[in-house]
Amino acid sequence: MSLSPESTHARCDTSPADALAWFDDARFGLFVHFGLYAIPARHEWIMTRERRSPEDYERYAELFDPDRFDARRIARIAREAGMRYAVLTTKHHEGFCLFDSALSDYTSQHACGRDLVREFVDALREEGVRVGFYHSVIDWHHPDFPIDRLHPLRDREDREELDRGRDIARYREYLHGQVRELLTGYGEVDYLFFDFTYPGGNGKGPEDWDSERLLAMVRELQPGCVVNDRLGIPGDLVTPEQYQPAEPMRDDAGETVRWEACQTTNGSWGYDRDNLEFKSPDLLLRMLVDTVGKGGNMLLNIGPDGRGGLRREDTDSLAEIGEWMQLHEASVHGAGAVDPALGILAPPGTLLTQRGDHLYIHLTSWPMSHLHVRGLAGSVRFARLLNDGSEIAFSTIDPAQKGSHTTVGGISDDTVTFTVPIMRPDVLLPVIEVWLETGASGAGS
Ligand code: GLC
Repeated sequence: MSLSPESTHARCDTSPADALAWFDDARFGLFVHFGLYAIPARHEWIMTRERRSPEDYERYAELFDPDRFDARRIARIAREAGMRYAVLTTKHHEGFCLFDSALSDYTSQHACGRDLVREFVDALREEGVRVGFYHSVIDWHHPDFPIDRLHPLRDREDREELDRGRDIARYREYLHGQVRELLTGYGEVDYLFFDFTYPGGNGKGPEDWDSERLLAMVRELQPGCVVNDRLGIPGDLVTPEQYQPAEPMRDDAGETVRWEACQTTNGSWGYDRDNLEFKSPDLLLRMLVDTVGKGGNMLLNIGPDGRGGLRREDTDSLAEIGEWMQLHEASVHGAGAVDPALGILAPPGTLLTQRGDHLYIHLTSWPMSHLHVRGLAGSVRFARLLNDGSEIAFSTIDPAQKGSHTTVGGISDDTVTFTVPIMRPDVLLPVIEVWLETGASGAGS
């Protein structure tokens, strides 16, 4: 789904503010897309892309054998990568459920005797990672889900015939019933990611899901749960997908809103065997820091394979990011955009974040000896490399020296010049941690 104007609205006052604090602090989460589509291994939309009928597609349920789906390993990998929450697809658009549902037989419980959602929830709790569910409001398998422009049967000659008798009201009760099961059967759920609404032009709108009633039920059953904005009505956050916003996201009134970018490692959410367009760990990390610097969260996806195992490319990337996070998490967890009142201009080749009275300068390209930061003069108490705590000298221009060949050319009085070593620290993304003078704008907040 791409970001549409409808999906950019967010209401941040719906969940109690302290219930959302963990989410704002977390900044980094793991998305896990798993379902029958992992077997054909050609993207999670294969059912509709290849116009597969439910009868044909559901044979994958008989072949479903996720012997390598190891929720504990996933939970541990997430925690070690510095991710504070993880979100599993309870049901994707294909309709297959990864949980034991009294309302359907099209479940992992029936297919292989396992409630994968329960395994996931238990494992996350053990690792101290917050629990999130992705739930598709779209369902290409359910016999009452009316055929629309995205449906696998949309191009069938007998479409009218196939569509006859489908009753969205009955489907709606199924949808609400399953959400109720998920919110009553698995303890506390921290995050709910609904997906998605596509009104107009033979699509589905909030009235089809009865989004108001569905959201009210979520609020009643799990008052602390963070809910996204893809029911076609405002939720607690907005959800840009597979792109990095240019700046902190705002509502129509210009107020910044809570947001989370969901991103893939290779462009596909579900396992896509022959897709090797993997983003490098370095790029993924820069995306994370860019997100934090714009006040958002990043939800990074992995798609387990047909046996539920993880791709080496994904686990390698997460391990590299985790190694970096061990030393640098202070620039991510609990951090956010730099207070504009500080008046800092990010120098080229840097990404900035701020956490209280600490400013974090991430150096995406390593400068030769000097890094000049405008707007910082008078605000710096101390600076160090975050990876090893080694002091970084800094200076402001000495008016007496101005114009002499010893001063670094063309810098303004409000500039702080940091002197960095010639050798770039051997980490994925070097960070200078700047301790701000208390009283500098935004410091201590
Ligand atoms: C979408 C897609 C999808 C994916 C997702 C993740 O809009 O339909 O396959 O699950 O969003 O955000």
